[in-house]
Formats: sequence, C-alpha cells, structure tokens
Amino acid sequence: MEERMVSNERQADDASIELSLRPNTLAQYIGQDKAKDNLAIFIEAARLRNEALDHVLLYGPPGLGKTTMASIIANEMEVEFRTTSGPAIEKAGDLAAILSSLEVGDVLFIDEIHRLPRSVEEILYPAMEDFCLDIVIGTGPSARSVRLDLPPFTLVGATTRAGLLTAPLRDRFGVLSRLEFYTTEDLCDIVERTAMIFHVTIAKEAAIEIARRSRGTPRIANRLLKRVRDISQVRGETEISLETTKTALQMLQVDQSGLDHIDHKILQTIIDAFQGGPVGLDTLASTIGEESQTIEDVYEPFLLQQGFMQRTPRGRVVTAKAYQHFNREVPNT
Ligand code: ADE
Repeated sequence: MEERMVSNERQADDASIELSLRPNTLAQYIGQDKAKDNLAIFIEAARLRNEALDHVLLYGPPGLGKTTMASIIANEMEVEFRTTSGPAIEKAGDLAAILSSLEVGDVLFIDEIHRLPRSVEEILYPAMEDFCLDIVIGTGPSARSVRLDLPPFTLVGATTRAGLLTAPLRDRFGVLSRLEFYTTEDLCDIVERTAMIFHVTIAKEAAIEIARRSRGTPRIANRLLKRVRDISQVRGETEISLETTKTALQMLQVDQSGLDHIDHKILQTIIDAFQGGPVGLDTLASTIGEESQTIEDVYEPFLLQQGFMQRTPRGRVVTAKAYQHFNREVPNT
C-alpha cells in the first residue's frame, strides 16, 4: 500500500515537471515567431469582441510544441482547456458527450485530429460551423434527427501534416498555423530555460551543442538535456560542461548533425540497398523494419529540411550531402 502511494507521488512529480517545462503564455514561448505573432492578433481581436477565437489548426512535425501552443491559446483567452485525441474518440456519441459539456469560449484540443473516425468527423462539421449538434434518436422508420445548440467554442486541432485531413474538415478551420523546425539560437534559449527550471547550470557552449544536435525540436532538446544532466551529476560537475555534453551525446548515439541510429539506417539503406534511390516509402520501411507513417512523419521531415534526402515522383533519393556525411564517395550521375 505504502509503495503504491510513493510511486503515485513520483508519477505526479514527473508529470508536474513536464508540465512546468511548458511555457504558459505567448511571451514565454520561444521561437515560432510567425505563428505567435498571428495568434497574438487573433486572440486580442477575439477578446476585444468578446467572442470565442476562430478554430485553429496547428500542423507540423512531432515535438515542435503544438499541444503547448494550444494550451497557451486557452490560457491567453482565459478559458478552460479540454483535451482529447483523434484515436481516443471511437464513436460519434463520445464526441457528442464532450461537445455538449463545453462552456462558452472553451478551447477543445484534439491531438492527431487526422485520426478521427469518419463518422465522428461528420459530427464536427455542424459543431464547428453553426455550434450545433445533430443527433439521431431511435432507429429505423421512427428515427428522427434532433438539433442541439452548443456554446460557441474554439476547436484547436493538431496534426503532423495538414494534407492528412479531409478537405471538409480542413476548410472549417479559420486559422491554419504551420509550426517550423526551431533555429539553433531558439533551441539554445529553450535548453537554458529548462536548465533553470531544473536548477542546474550549463555552460553556454554545452547548451549550444545540445541545441545544434536536437533536430530543430524542443522535445528532443529537453530530452537530451535530461540525459546530459544525469551524466554531469554522476561526474560531480557543478556546471554541465561541453566535454560531458559531447560524451553524453556520443553515448546516446546522436551524431554531429543530430542524426540518430534510425536516421543512419534510413540513409545508409537507401545508399547500400537501393544505390542511392529512388525507393518507394513502403519498400524502404519494410527493409529497415519501421512503419511507413513513422518514417514519413518523424524522420523524413528533418532529413528533407537538412538536405540529406529528397522526395521525387519515383520515390526517395539521398543527396550528395548524405554520402559525404558517411564519408562515402559520391557516385557520378
Ligand atoms: N519548452 C519546450 N518548448 C518551448 C518553447 N517553444 N518555448 C519555451 N519553452 C519551451
């Protein structure tokens, strides 16, 4: 009994640390200036009119702060933040229950909104457009449709790619905001902010090193910082050093460009098994034993952005930069 209490407490501690890492306001949120500037205006205007903010779609690769941005929207609008996810809502009735419990102006966040079942998605259309719920009561010839009013609310949807959404759903969002990979400077500020929350000091060069190797992604930067902190602590350092940071990143198999062993597997498989490509996504995925969706959503965006890989109509190809990264001779084409 006692053990359970302790483990529950620990879990609560971990969760509250994760939560406290998240900025609560747009002013605290580092990076994504374009998304932030636009949202700041739309939020201010909605507040001036005393209206619910228009529905917002946040899209971009995982770990860039879509959930954080959604919770900031609720906080800045001073309304409740309700969260769910596409795969968690199985039946139309599940969503109807959530929608009918909303209060005026609330933010309903649906993560992975592209994974909503089609029958559930159809409930969302009138809810988003006219703030009403169409419910069918009864079955067969006696079935009838009843329309229930909903309070005006803001739907914030998140997805890894806007293209995964059906057109009717995408068209019902008034604000579409794409989150971009972060610059090294912004990630460095995030690492320093997180270090402060952890009550550890970190050398500037060490923070830059973590930032440089975090694939433009705050979630990865914070994860690497945690592991670097562990090693620094065991070494008895009073400040996280560059040397310890480099050792830790090597132990974690994060290379100079921030690529991990799966990135390596993807690029080296295209080079060795497919002569540099083109290779279809599904063929590549089954060769390396990863899900196509994971490659496409998690790994590929950064490899494309950094110019290690290209998408062509005939499939994925690696670039000269990929060969050079592994000290391989670039083939003549
Ligand atoms: N922690 C994680 N992401 C952050 C961000 N964008 N700004 C500030 N702190 C963060």
